[in-house]
Amino acid sequence: MPKILVIHGPNLNLLGKREPSIYGTFTIEDINNSIKRLADELGVEVSIRQSNHEGEIIDMIHDAGGYDALIINPAAYTHTSLAIRDAISAVDIPTIEVHISNIHKREDFRQKSLIAPVVSGQISGFGPDSYLLALRAAVTIINAEKGTS
Ligand code: DQA
Repeated sequence: MPKILVIHGPNLNLLGKREPSIYGTFTIEDINNSIKRLADELGVEVSIRQSNHEGEIIDMIHDAGGYDALIINPAAYTHTSLAIRDAISAVDIPTIEVHISNIHKREDFRQKSLIAPVVSGQISGFGPDSYLLALRAAVTIINAEKGTS
């Protein structure tokens, strides 16, 4: 069974309480439960992690070698972290960048992603469904690579 790693970056543990007018009232547990439900339906195994620490996220990416795809919401590190970008380039597994809000219609400083140039694609602006769209995209990529699509 294909294995997919999902990483939530900093402050996403506060979903539900954090700026609900931007991020909604759903919690990280709600998102994780819907990811797991869809993973069951699609016949893939998911591991889901969250960290508020850049170095810890980099270590998670380094350890992602056994996974067939990576889904990551780097949160604020999207806009600042060359180190997370380099880690994604280094491991060379299909990676999908996810954002709950549409970063392209927010403040100027959020419109630039250092991560986007090194991933398969970016999904931004669909609320918690961004993760589900990313999961479907990851499965499509995995199947295409295996020639089973
Ligand atoms: C975010 C967008 C980022 O700009 C922000 O720093 C976040 C969340 C999103 O999912 O919309 O923490 O990645």
